[in-house]
Amino acid sequence: MIHGAYQCAVNYFKDFDQINSSRHNSISLLGQPGTGKTHLLTALANNLIYKKQISVLYFPFVEGFNDLKDDFNLLEEKLTKMKRVQILFIDDLFKGRETPTQFQLEQTFGVINYRYLNHKPIMISSEKTVDELCDIDEALGTRIYQMSRDYTVVLKGDRKILNHRLAGMASV
Ligand SMILES: Nc1ncnc2c1ncn2[C@@H]1O[C@H](COP(=O)(O)OP(=O)(O)OP(=O)(O)O)[C@@H](O)[C@H]1O
Ligand SMILES: [Mg+2]
Repeated sequence: MIHGAYQCAVNYFKDFDQINSSRHNSISLLGQPGTGKTHLLTALANNLIYKKQISVLYFPFVEGFNDLKDDFNLLEEKLTKMKRVQILFIDDLFKGRETPTQFQLEQTFGVINYRYLNHKPIMISSEKTVDELCDIDEALGTRIYQMSRDYTVVLKGDRKILNHRLAGMASV
């Protein structure tokens, strides 16, 4: 499965020029904590930045929203950047609490819907599965699914084997 996620990221990089402006131009790594989702997508982003001169905006969900709420005068400007940047990387989508706040839902939907309509890629890491994303917000979940349909991996399995943070425990 981890190999699957790696291969998915490699394929995405290889295919990027062809899929960039299509509807299915995005990548989602979903599922269990500690399985290397952030690590892989960061490596992918670095490759896109340095080898293809693509601009990628990193938006860690929890910290990103704290920052958005910090100064409402800058909110529209920041949201516009999130809408227009070549690739938006949302790390740990819907992390933090049982259900996201109305503010988080509305702003996330606004940004992702804009990108969906304009065929602009997103990179998503989340502990939620596609079903769970749809349970939280169906309009948002189905858009993310459609956009990353060809590059989605759900990491699931034995925590002791898959979680890099617990590396070594499997042999105990
Ligand atoms: N392929 C790998 N080999 C060894 N260590 C790795 C690998 N991928 C990630 N790690 C390390 O494992 C830890 C967990 O990785 P990472 O934070 O990317 O997981 P994650 O799936 O994003 O977790 P979370 O859902 O909690 O955000 C990090 O310390 C990371 O540096
Ligand atoms: Mg992560």
